[in-house]
Amino acid sequence: MNPLLWGATILLFTSLVSAANLDIGQEINEVCAGCHGEYAEGGKEGEYPRLAGLPAGYMEQELRHFKSKVRLNHPMVPYTKERELPEEDLLDVSAYIATIELYAKLPPIDEENFNAYERLLLSKKLLNVRRIEGDYAAGKQLYSRECASCHGRKGDGKLKSQTPLLAGQYTNYLLKQIHAYQKGTRIHDQEEASESIFKEYSEIQIHNLLAYLSILDDD
Ligand code: HEC
Ligand code: HEC
Repeated sequence: MNPLLWGATILLFTSLVSAANLDIGQEINEVCAGCHGEYAEGGKEGEYPRLAGLPAGYMEQELRHFKSKVRLNHPMVPYTKERELPEEDLLDVSAYIATIELYAKLPPIDEENFNAYERLLLSKKLLNVRRIEGDYAAGKQLYSRECASCHGRKGDGKLKSQTPLLAGQYTNYLLKQIHAYQKGTRIHDQEEASESIFKEYSEIQIHNLLAYLSILDDD
């Protein structure tokens, strides 16, 4: 066989074998939806975080941490046992959820092509984090200096480094994670737990940071 053709065949084969199956991922997501919502929009003011829009590789990593209990997540224990969520399913469901797009606001109505059903579907994919009051300027300053390089200038995360979004994520959930980083029960970006940047911040600084994040998804 022509070597070029060989190369193409091998490439096709490996991509078929390694490609995540989005249909299976969508089926598995029906289990997750019980808590995280059909469109992975989260709920109960952040008791269940938003998953839509998180990088797939980040979700895979956290699911493996839940499995091995490196990151404790009691409600999810029954769902991350090897029998319930083998590696293949973990990859498929993460890949599927990463494709779900949410909107912070609805696009203006197109009078000419108005479709009530499509509009209804869109409205279910709406997530705009409730604005909390605070010193937005102080929050912005801290965010830009200490967080933006990894989490993105607009807080929407970075695909390349698999860094999670912070803007568009529920405030309560973010605060709970920051407290876990401070206590050392979760480790932030390969830091030493004892040297976490979050230990340096006062509750007021963190409040202002979260207030700023709560308005970042508005535009
Ligand atoms: C019984 C409720 C429940 C079910 C079902 C559930 N989760 Fe969760 N999940 C949670 C809770 C609660 C958290 C937040 C844990 C915390 O506060 O640290 C979470 C967190 C996560 C996170 C971490 C998000 C982040 O930003 O770090 C991922 C990823 C996740 N879940 C994926 C899934 C997937 C995939 C499924 C389906 C296979 C699923 N969950 C099913 C309750 C649930
Ligand atoms: C050097 C890169 C880097 C910097 C700087 C950084 N982060 Fe992170 N952050 C990460 C990575 C990577 C993760 C994902 C996994 C982990 O480490 O927990 C993360 C996770 C988080 C999470 C948990 C998100 C979730 O969905 O569970 C929060 C909250 C967070 N960071 C807040 C911040 C804040 C606030 C700052 C600035 C004070 C900041 N980070 C600075 C890389 C960084």
